[in-house]
Amino acid sequence: MDIRFSADRPQDADVIVVPVGKGGADAASMPIEQSKTVAAAASSARFEGKPGQSFSTYAEEGGKTVRVLLVGTGKDSFDRAGGTIAAQLLTTGAKHAVLIADGLDGDAASDMAYGAKLRSWRIDTYRTTLKDHEKPSLETLTLAGAKDGAEDRWTRLGAIAEGVAFTRELVSEPANIIYPESFVERARAKLEPLGVTLRVLDEPEMEKLGMNALLGVSLGSEKPARLLALEYMGGKDGEKPLVFVGKGVTFDTGGISLKQPQGMEDMKWDMGGAGAVAGAMTAIAGRKAKTNVVGICGLVENMPDGRAMRPGDIVTSMSGQTIEVINTDAEGRLVLCDALHWAQETYQPDTIVDLATLTGAMLISLGHEQAGCFSNNDGLADRLIAAGEQSGDPLWRLPLGKAYDKLLDSPIADMKNVGPRSAGSITAAQFLQRFIKEGVKWAHLDIAGMAWSDKDGPVWAKGATGFGVRLLDRFVADNYEG
Ligand code: BES
Ligand code: MN
Ligand code: ZN
Repeated sequence: MDIRFSADRPQDADVIVVPVGKGGADAASMPIEQSKTVAAAASSARFEGKPGQSFSTYAEEGGKTVRVLLVGTGKDSFDRAGGTIAAQLLTTGAKHAVLIADGLDGDAASDMAYGAKLRSWRIDTYRTTLKDHEKPSLETLTLAGAKDGAEDRWTRLGAIAEGVAFTRELVSEPANIIYPESFVERARAKLEPLGVTLRVLDEPEMEKLGMNALLGVSLGSEKPARLLALEYMGGKDGEKPLVFVGKGVTFDTGGISLKQPQGMEDMKWDMGGAGAVAGAMTAIAGRKAKTNVVGICGLVENMPDGRAMRPGDIVTSMSGQTIEVINTDAEGRLVLCDALHWAQETYQPDTIVDLATLTGAMLISLGHEQAGCFSNNDGLADRLIAAGEQSGDPLWRLPLGKAYDKLLDSPIADMKNVGPRSAGSITAAQFLQRFIKEGVKWAHLDIAGMAWSDKDGPVWAKGATGFGVRLLDRFVADNYEG
C-alpha cells in the first residue's frame, strides 16, 4: 500500500476516510454530502470516535456510491487510528482510500499514514492458492489536504516503516530460507544502497579472534556462522559510534539440550534481536540520520549433531573468560558475549545496547506487553524507556545485582552459562554484563515476548511485530542527533 499526498480528493477514490475525534461524528463538520445520515448511523451504531473504533457505511458522493469509513482518532494515537484504516480496508476490495486530512494538524496526518503503512504489511510469499478476493486490494492511501509539514514528516516515518517491514520479513522467513549467510545477503541488498558499509566475519576469522563461545553454538550446524557489522557513519568523522548488538540465532533447536517439539517452530524467530538491529539500521540510514551508528548481528544456527557442543563442555570466549556450558539451549548469551566483546574492541563505544529473544522466563514475567530492560546506567535506562513509550515499543526495567551474578559461578570455569531456574532473565543479563568493559554504558533488552505476536495489534497483523525498530530509531533521534 502506497501513501500519497494531494491537495484535492482524487477522482478514483473508492473509500472516503473521515477522522473523528472525541465526541463522535458531527454532521456539521463532516465533509461529505450525506453527512447527516452518516453521522446519525454512526452514533446509533455506538461509534464514539474512540481510538481504534471505526464505522463503515456507504453513501452517495458526486453521483457515485462510495464507501465511507469513520475512524476514531483519540488524542495521541493517530498511528493507531491509521492502523485501523488498513485493518478495515486491506482486503475488502477497496483499492484507493482518501483520508480527509485538512482537519488534522500535519503531525497527526502523517502519523495516520504511518500507522496505516505499518498495519498493512504482510507476507504472502508462500501462499500460492490465495483466491483473488483474499488478496490485499488496497493499493493507495491518499492524504487529501494535509497541512504543511505532513509530507516532510512522512518521508521520515516512511523510512522507519521500511525498517519495521525489513525486520518483519527477516523474522517471518523460515530457517531454511534465512540462515547466517542468507541473512547477510538480504541485509546487503537492503542496506548498501542506503550508504551502509557491511563488514562480515566468517568462521576462520572468528576462530582467529578466539570467538569460541559463538562458534561453539554453531558446531552442530551445517550452516556456517557469520558476524555482521552494519556501519552507518552519518555523523562527524571520527566520532565514536553508538553500537547496537542483536542475537541472531536463525534457528534454535536447543542443541544437545534439545527443546521439546511443541512450539519449536517458533524458534525460527530467535534471530529477532538481529532482525531488529538490521531494521533499525534501515530506518536510521533510510532517513539519513546525522550520527554514527553500528549495528552488529551475531548469526548462528543452534543444532544437535555429532559435532555439536555438549553439556559440560568448557569454552574460552574472545574476552579470555571461560564458560562451562551447562545447557546448550542457553546459546544466545554465548553468541552475544563474543559479539559484545568484539564490538567494544572494534568500535570503543561509550554506549552499547543489545537486543535478544534471550529467555523464555521473560514471557513469564512480562508476558507480551513490554520487553525487559536491564542496564548498568540509570540515565541510559531512562532514555530507552522514554523512547519506548514514545515510539510504541514499551520497556520495563528489571534489576541487576551482585547476588544474581554470583548464581553463575562455576566450580571449574569462570562461569556457567545458566543459573538456577528462578530469575532466569536476570541471570542471563548478568552473564552478558560480565563481558561489558569498565565505563561502558550498556543496556540489554530481552524481547523474547515481543518479537512475535499470536494476535493482531494496533499497527501489526499477527506474526512478526518488528519490535525494537521504532524504539531504537527514536532513541537515536532523541539523543544522538542534537
Ligand atoms: N531462544 C530461547 C528463549 C526463548 C524462548 C525465546 C521462548 C522466545 C520464546 C533461548 O535460547 C532459550 O532457549 N533459553 C532458555 C534458557 C534456559 C536453558 C536457561 C529458556 O528460556 O528456557
Ligand atoms: Mn535456546
Ligand atoms: Zn535461543
